Amino acid sequence: MAAFWNKPVLLCLTLSAILSLCSVLSTAEFQQFEQDPKADGSLSFLVVGDWGRRGGFNQSEVAVQMGIIGEKLDIDFVISTGDNFYDGGLKGVDDPAFDESFTNIYTAPSLQKQWYNVLGNHDYRGDVMAQLSPILTKLDSRWLCLRSFILNAEIVEFFFVDTTPFVDKYFKDPKDDVYDWRGVLPRKQYLSNILKVV
Ligand SMILES: *[C@@H]1O[C@H](CO)[C@@H](O)[C@H](O)[C@H]1NC(C)=O
Repeated sequence: MAAFWNKPVLLCLTLSAILSLCSVLSTAEFQQFEQDPKADGSLSFLVVGDWGRRGGFNQSEVAVQMGIIGEKLDIDFVISTGDNFYDGGLKGVDDPAFDESFTNIYTAPSLQKQWYNVLGNHDYRGDVMAQLSPILTKLDSRWLCLRSFILNAEIVEFFFVDTTPFVDKYFKDPKDDVYDWRGVLPRKQYLSNILKVV
C-alpha cells in the first residue's frame, strides 16, 4: 500500500470511523442517494482526494493503480473528498480541466462507476457552481458533486459534509486567494443549517 501514499492521496476509510459519524448525524436536511450493496451484502469502494492535476504530480500513476485495485476489489463506487481540481477549481462548466483531470485520467474499466464528490477549499477558489452543475454529469455520467449529502448504502450510511465554509481564515484572512462563496452567504445561516443536521 505504501505506493498509494504519494500525492494525490488514496485513502481507505474504516467502517468504525464511518459508523461513529453516523451516530452524531441525523438525516434531517441533506439530500439522500441510494447505493445497492452487492448480492452477497458486501460493499467496496475507493476514496481519493486532492487529485485533479491534469495527470501530473503522479495523478496518472495513482489512477492506474486505482484501476488495478478497483478491479481486484470489484468496487461499487468511488468517493472523492475534495480538492478535485488544482490549483483553483474549475473555471466554468466548459473548463477543459474536467476532461484533462477526470474523464481522461480515470479510464480503467473498474473506475467507470458512480463517483460521489464533495468540494475542497481549492474548489472554492474557482467557479464553485460549475462543479455542482448537472451539466458535468451530462459530460461524464460518473460525476456527482454536492456540498453536503447522504449516501445510503443499506449496510452503511455515508455523510458528506461541506466543511470548507467552517474555516474562519478563508473568510477573515484569505491572503491572495479569492473564494467563490455563492450559495454559502450569508455564512452564519449556511453553517447553522448544516449544524442543525449534525
Ligand atoms: C512521482 O512518484 C515518484 C515515485 O514515488 C517520485 O519519485 C516523484 O518525485 C513523483 N513525482 C512528482 C511530480 O510528484
